[in-house]
Amino acid sequence: MECPIANAVVPVAGLGTRLLPATKSQPKEMLPVARKPIVQYVAEELARCGVRNLLFVTGRGKAAIENHFDPDPALTRTLRAAGKTDLQVALDFERLGLNILYTRQSVPRGLGDAILHGESFTGREPFIVALGDSVIGLRGDSLACRRMAETFVRRRADVVIAVREVPRDHVRFYGIVVSDGDGDTFRIRTLVEKPSTQDAPSRLAVAGRYAFSPRIFGLIREVRPDRRGEIQLTDAIRAVAEQGGTVLGVRLGADEKRYDVGNMPSYFETFLDFAAADPDHGPRVRSHMRRILRRYSNEEGR
Ligand code: G1P
Repeated sequence: MECPIANAVVPVAGLGTRLLPATKSQPKEMLPVARKPIVQYVAEELARCGVRNLLFVTGRGKAAIENHFDPDPALTRTLRAAGKTDLQVALDFERLGLNILYTRQSVPRGLGDAILHGESFTGREPFIVALGDSVIGLRGDSLACRRMAETFVRRRADVVIAVREVPRDHVRFYGIVVSDGDGDTFRIRTLVEKPSTQDAPSRLAVAGRYAFSPRIFGLIREVRPDRRGEIQLTDAIRAVAEQGGTVLGVRLGADEKRYDVGNMPSYFETFLDFAAADPDHGPRVRSHMRRILRRYSNEEGR
């Protein structure tokens, strides 16, 4: 099914310093989560939602992402010659039906600046933004972006944001929204980037998926860099809301947990969750987990 929004921008330029040394010479978006690199779940999610064109905003050291999505006929021939049909299936994602383009953010100047690199790609059309280091739902099979695109068109919105409640001690990692109402779709009055626990106006966090009208570009340009020199996307969205634009929140469902792979503990948790849910290897992983848990609880009980 087609998505009412055809274009998606996927920023993958972040340095991944919180995942060093794993990210010293490879992009964090290429780290595996069970059987696939993180960014493959993101591209598959967008393809399933009916997006047609995808722009990756890359940066220094991100060439592995381009290599991953490039069809590799020599590898396919080798697998076919060896009769390894099961492994050939693993390369089916090379034909997602997406038209993939790349551009490069040469200086890491924040998420807002990365999105600005999508301006000539999206032109006057609305577009989706899906962060390349976060997966929505176990197996990454959420249709949230299509729901958001439908809401965007139906409500003639300027911005639609996926949101999800987080524990109070996690608000400092996210954009946090102030909303009117508590249904599945609601108006967002304002939002603040990574507030302290005391200052957070709610526990509703921006969850790595957005839909924008091209109006956002002008407002990103007006954002003043923060103290780290970064242009925050959240600041441009707040400007839309403050100027009376329609900024809507779409709540992610219970089965649409956001797996954030930006730091070690959440990367470990994500890997475990996805490995345990693997259709082929999940049972074996789960019994191994039970064994190691027993071992740890025996040791801790001593
Ligand atoms: C970014 C956004 C933040 C959002 C988060 C998760 O932060 O700036 O508002 O909540 O992604 O979607 P980052 O995790 O890149 O620091």
